[in-house]
Amino acid sequence: MPAEHKEKAAPVIGEGWKKLATFLAHSGRQVPERPGSFVNFPVSRGSTVVFPTIADMEAQGAQAYDHQLVYGAMGNPVQHELEKVLAQLEGGQHTQIVNSGLAACTFALLAFLKAGEHLLLPDSVYGPTRRFAVNFLKRLGVDTSFYPPQANEAELESYIKPQTRAVFAESPGSHTFEVQDIPMLARFAHKHGARLFVDNTWGIGAFQPFEHGVDVSIQALTKYPSGHADVILGAITVKTNEDWRLLRRAAIEFGASGGPDDCWLVLRGLKTMAVRLAQQARSAFELACWLKERPEVAHVRHPALPDCPGHELWKRDFSDASGLFGVELVKGITPEAMGKMLDSLTLFGIGASWGGYESLVLPTTGGLTRSHHPGEPEGSAFRIQVGLEDVEDLKADLAGGFAKLTHS
Ligand SMILES: Cc1ncc(COP(=O)(O)O)c(C=O)c1O
Repeated sequence: MPAEHKEKAAPVIGEGWKKLATFLAHSGRQVPERPGSFVNFPVSRGSTVVFPTIADMEAQGAQAYDHQLVYGAMGNPVQHELEKVLAQLEGGQHTQIVNSGLAACTFALLAFLKAGEHLLLPDSVYGPTRRFAVNFLKRLGVDTSFYPPQANEAELESYIKPQTRAVFAESPGSHTFEVQDIPMLARFAHKHGARLFVDNTWGIGAFQPFEHGVDVSIQALTKYPSGHADVILGAITVKTNEDWRLLRRAAIEFGASGGPDDCWLVLRGLKTMAVRLAQQARSAFELACWLKERPEVAHVRHPALPDCPGHELWKRDFSDASGLFGVELVKGITPEAMGKMLDSLTLFGIGASWGGYESLVLPTTGGLTRSHHPGEPEGSAFRIQVGLEDVEDLKADLAGGFAKLTHS
């Protein structure tokens, strides 16, 4: 039955992670070959792989597509182990690790597009993905159009070109948090002979991309999978062997891979991701509901709140939420006043990333969000990444910041 016809109760925040906890705790572990092995998969560092004979080298080289060890630039054992776990977690066939989440967005497009083709990007897309398309891809002869993230199928038709081969989605959108209709986008893309790419970083584990028609799923492993703000890594997962051969070939030709230590840290981070995310999702939703009642706040952009654009789609397609959402202040609070308020917080760092154990805020006003369509927040706005601190302490810190705002 297509995903959009399924009747589904609204997710209970924090509960959706239960179903992944056992899988995550038990996957990516060394299977003991003899009594006395360590619990975790070992990290092994290396460039050159040596073989007993030339015939062995040629035989293994022929299997570079199948996670065989050939040369360090094509991958290493812990990278391949991580790739297997991620392919299962995302529900795809194969995963390729690359050196950052941004590289996962850009490399996925490079692997599948060629000169003369056309890309559709949502206008809510992560800024560096936008910049890569309008600068780098343009230089390579790939043209990009931006569609409103909430466009319906009929509206989307006006953006399509005969050369459109890729439709990209990011759900929910960076900074503005609109949930996109992925099954509809998949139907639309496929009807026009294009692949659907989704940056699924926010939805990791809570949105199964391939069940909803996605062709290429992108993850910034830097966020929740690493979980400790100390790794930069990305992953691209596909569902067909045909797409895997294109992606893997491009990775081999580019020399794209992930360092063994970073891959090991992510493999370790995944073991605790379900409990971290359950806690962060619960705290974030509680904070979002609390912020909604504050007189200084005009809108809270959290997919689990009924007035968030695409909330019904979140209910239909996701099994949980994560810990990142947006806050828009009432008109009259200038970006400077908001800046002072954010500067005064003691538990929230000011920083661009998310998914770690520590809470962060980031201003999101000033042309960061849209380049083509309305949707930019009207008031001063910021994004909150909720960490593992006690939510009451986080509320108190924000309340202190708001008090400074009214008295400045
Ligand atoms: C939605 C999204 N995709 C991709 C990335 C890029 O990830 P990385 O920081 O690993 O390059 C980010 C980073 O913030 C992001 O928010």
